[in-house]
Order: sequence, then structure tokens, then C-alpha cells
Amino acid sequence: MLIIKDISNLQSYLSAYQNRKYSIGYVPTMGALHKGHGELIKQSKKGNHKTIVSIFVNEKQFSSKEDFETYPRNKGFDYDFCIDNEVDILFEPSSEEIFKNDQTLLNNKNFKDILCDKFRRGHFDGVITVLDKFFSIIKSNKVYFGEKDYQQLKIIEKFIEEKYKSLDLVSVPTQRHEEGIAYSSRNEKLSKKQTQDFVDFHKKVKNFIGSLEGSLDIETANEKANDFMKSQDIDKLDYFEFRNDTDLSFVGTLSQARLFYAIYKGKVRLIDNLKV
Ligand code: PAJ
Repeated sequence: MLIIKDISNLQSYLSAYQNRKYSIGYVPTMGALHKGHGELIKQSKKGNHKTIVSIFVNEKQFSSKEDFETYPRNKGFDYDFCIDNEVDILFEPSSEEIFKNDQTLLNNKNFKDILCDKFRRGHFDGVITVLDKFFSIIKSNKVYFGEKDYQQLKIIEKFIEEKYKSLDLVSVPTQRHEEGIAYSSRNEKLSKKQTQDFVDFHKKVKNFIGSLEGSLDIETANEKANDFMKSQDIDKLDYFEFRNDTDLSFVGTLSQARLFYAIYKGKVRLIDNLKV
């Protein structure tokens, strides 16, 4: 595996691949890698000749300096993880180089003021700004994103439609621990007790969803969701609601919906979404 830290080096390797007409798959990450990222890499390896993974903790998508500074970083482990998963190139640029020429923040206009955008203002502006840099540097054929961050996935889908028409977006289902909770870099910051509480919460959520008919309309289901949450012991709630999984509206029935939630265990913010 090649570990490349600067853009010009990366581009000379990539042009050698492109000259050979290799198909390149790209997996953007912020590191602290886990089996969710592993599945994205696996799909990229299946669908392309070469796979490139970037690790870049993007300051522009964090709402506080503290959250950015305490985001889990696990370099040695990440290198081993990429080697074990047979990644071809690991790209790990510096923030200075990525934002050297242009610091302008792009303005996301899609799926605004709902779900995470309502509670983390500017977060998705930071996400598309950094992806714009990476997409234009790497020029891969395909790029891989997880359903775990479903609103992010939908926003990137639109962004690619608008600006990178020849890039194929591949979405990958959420990978979960046996106990049901999704793999997440932020889980590393949970204590054993918090993890167990979260596993229990997830089970209750699954049972709650299982108790609802698929023909129920989303608006009514959300009244039930409010009642369900009243009896849950969580530290803070951002949202817990069903939405249509195509346009993220409240229109339709549960069989067309996903349940989206963002909750806090202590200071750790956990997000997930479940297809009904
Ligand atoms: P990060 O949280 O590292 O996630 C990188 C990719 O892995 C995203 O596409 C995310 O949806 C996917 N992912 C995370 N957990 C997953 C799971 N349990 N199952 C399946 N896929 C999972 O998302 C980001 O980084 C950043 O916002 C980024 C897109 C890299 C831009 O900075």
C-alpha cells in the first residue's frame, strides 16, 4: 500500500492508473476506521481496479474547536486496517495543502434546515467544501458513501448531480455490531455503561418500529414517536422522527420511510437511521 501525503505525488500515481484505463474507486473518511469503512473499501475493491482511501479530519465540518480536537484519531491502527483491507493508496494530505488555494466555504442548498442541518448549522457546507477539493484532485470513477449518514448521502448525491456528473456514487448499507448499533468512530468515546445503554435504546427503537403498521402515514407515526421518546432515558435529544426516505419529507406511509435520530449519551452525539 502506498501512503501519499501530497497532492502532486498522488496525481502522478493516479495519472499512471488513468493512462492504463484503470477504474478508480474512492472512499473518503475521517479515519478512526471500523467495519463500516471496511465495507465501503470492500465494495470499492469489488467494483474497481484500484481503491484509494483518504483520511482527513476536516476542521470545516465541525461546529466547535473542542469537537474537532477530541475527534478520535488512531493513525497506527488505521494504517494496519487499510493494509489488511488491501487498499492501494492511502491519501493523507495536510489541511494547509487542501485549503491552500481557496478557503471559500460552499453553501449547501439541499435538504436544508432539517435533521442534522438544523442542529449542526454549517456542517454540510463543510462536508461538500472538502469533498469538492477531494473530488477534483482524485477524479475517481466511483465514490463510496454509507447510508449510516443518510442526510449526508442525499446531500452529496445532489452535489454530484450538480457538479460532478461523470462520477458514480455508490451507497452502502449501514454495518452494525451484533447487538444492533451501527459501527461509528464516535462510539470509541463511549464508556461501557454508555454503550450498554445505547444498545438497550436501539433494541427498544427496533421493537417500537416493529409495533407499527407499514400502511400508517408518516405524520401519525411521528405522534407515536414523540410519545415513545417521552419514556426514554437519554441525555439529550436532537431529533427522533420518521421521514420519507426519497425526499426526506413527511409525506407518505411508513413503508416508504426511515426513522432518523440523533441523541446524546453524555457528551457523545450518536446518529442512526433505520429503514422501516
Ligand atoms: P466518516 O464519519 O469517517 O465516514 C466515512 C464514510 O463511512 C461515510 O460515507 C459514512 O457514511 C460511512 N460509514 C460510517 N459508519 C458506517 C457504518 N456503520 N456502515 C456503513 N458506512 C458507514 O462521513 C464522513 O467521515 C465525512 O463527513 C466525510 C464524508 C469523509 C467528509 O469529511
